[in-house]
Amino acid sequence: MTQGKFTFVGDYNLYSLVLGMIAVGVTDYVETGCRRGDTCNAVAFESIIPVWGCDTNGRAVKIALKQASRQLRLDVARSEAWLPKIVPDLGLLPLFYLDAHGGKVPVREELKIIDGLCGTCVIIIHDFIVPGRPKFTGKPAGGVVCDFNYVARAFGVLANYRFFYPDYDIPQGQHWAGHLLAFRKVEPFGLESGLWVERSDCLNEKR
Ligand SMILES: C[S@@+](CC[C@H](N)C(=O)[O-])C[C@H]1O[C@@H](n2cnc3c(N)ncnc32)[C@H](O)[C@@H]1O
Repeated sequence: MTQGKFTFVGDYNLYSLVLGMIAVGVTDYVETGCRRGDTCNAVAFESIIPVWGCDTNGRAVKIALKQASRQLRLDVARSEAWLPKIVPDLGLLPLFYLDAHGGKVPVREELKIIDGLCGTCVIIIHDFIVPGRPKFTGKPAGGVVCDFNYVARAFGVLANYRFFYPDYDIPQGQHWAGHLLAFRKVEPFGLESGLWVERSDCLNEKR
């Protein structure tokens, strides 16, 4: 497994999870905010599925594309405009890694698009606050606190989803970004026991 310091910001549990899910049936890897392609390229190197990505930073995307891989489909675009164009071309079980975080965080718009256009899929929202686990940084951009309350409405019908948080220890001296993992209309799969915990109270959430 190629694991750079920057792939999923060094979180090798998350990287292993993604590769494991690809091994058992994920059809496409889709990353919003791919920047220089550190994570996209690592995933492309370890798999044969299409790897889609977009970023508003044209110079960064140019660098990403230098590491030519036939699977890479990267565009310079705002994720909110790009997702509706590419989702119809995806296979039956895409995995979305939502990491387009700049001055504005388009995660709610991205989720609404995915919820409206996708059947089964897996979604990972990066830089997400993990309740009770402060070592997982939320790194909210533009004053946004990216927690479950912030995104809940964008998922539409919550009963279509199962949600998980990371529940593993972080190596001494490191801080990894937290994430929320959502399985839409598919039984959760690929989760190594003890490393993720289900957010079981989501169906009772006040909306
Ligand atoms: C945290 S960095 C992404 C790191 C990258 N995912 C990786 O693993 O190497 C966030 C990126 O999101 C991009 N970005 C911000 N807003 C965006 C938007 N609306 N659409 C697409 N990309 C966006 C920024 O240009 C920046 O490169």
